[in-house]
Amino acid sequence: MFYDTHAHLNADQFKNQVTEIIEEARENQVNVINVVGFNRKTNALANQIALKYENVYASAGFHPADISQFDESDFETLESYLKQNITVAVGECGLDYYWHKETKNKQIEYFKRQIELSKQYKKPLIIHVRDAIADSYEVLKEASRHGHLKGVMHCFSGTPEMAKRFLDLGLYISLGGPVTFKNAKIPKEVAKVIPLDRLLVETDCPFLAPHPYRGKLNKPAYVPIIAREIANLKKVSLEEIAYYTTDNGKKLFLTNYKD
Ligand code: NI
Repeated sequence: MFYDTHAHLNADQFKNQVTEIIEEARENQVNVINVVGFNRKTNALANQIALKYENVYASAGFHPADISQFDESDFETLESYLKQNITVAVGECGLDYYWHKETKNKQIEYFKRQIELSKQYKKPLIIHVRDAIADSYEVLKEASRHGHLKGVMHCFSGTPEMAKRFLDLGLYISLGGPVTFKNAKIPKEVAKVIPLDRLLVETDCPFLAPHPYRGKLNKPAYVPIIAREIANLKKVSLEEIAYYTTDNGKKLFLTNYKD
């Protein structure tokens, strides 16, 4: 069994085909899926999709690349999602200076506030970082001084050294399609150093399809392709990767879940 801990079945690309996509995932032993929200529309859709399908869960948050669309009133809506059992995580949240360096201050403020909500509601963070790894580490390190951090560095793109620093903060590391790309030296090195009990897998679909589907529509059914590459890199069996990543995902996201 596999757990796709980060899928955007709420994206426009999957409109009117969510049922088929989930069925295809199950045929490929991908039985548990997190539908991750990133803005107003996709937070609402993640909630609707998760309520409709078995073993499908939602997250809700403010993505740093979409931060300009959010204001105070959105925190109320976010909390209304976090009060629901079906919402198992806060995010995507984090920092993204690749797309929007000009909103840096607001990104940092909203990231910190989402970290506080994660602690308050005891729901882990799904953390997105792009071209902002030093600032993200500082925010998280500071937050870890005032209470236990729970969360995952999603689709981690930093170095093995940075991965270790985030692991030291108690966070999980999740890998996706890029680990299968032929020229992706750093993600492959990262895969080798993450301990099995701190590793998660994800697709981040519809983006970042693994080799040999690179550039095409990504979907949860491709998780085993990513897991197989990680198994090869770590020199362990595919079954071990399936077992540990599913178990880790359940521990992180579903420990407090009640039907
Ligand atoms: Ni994502």
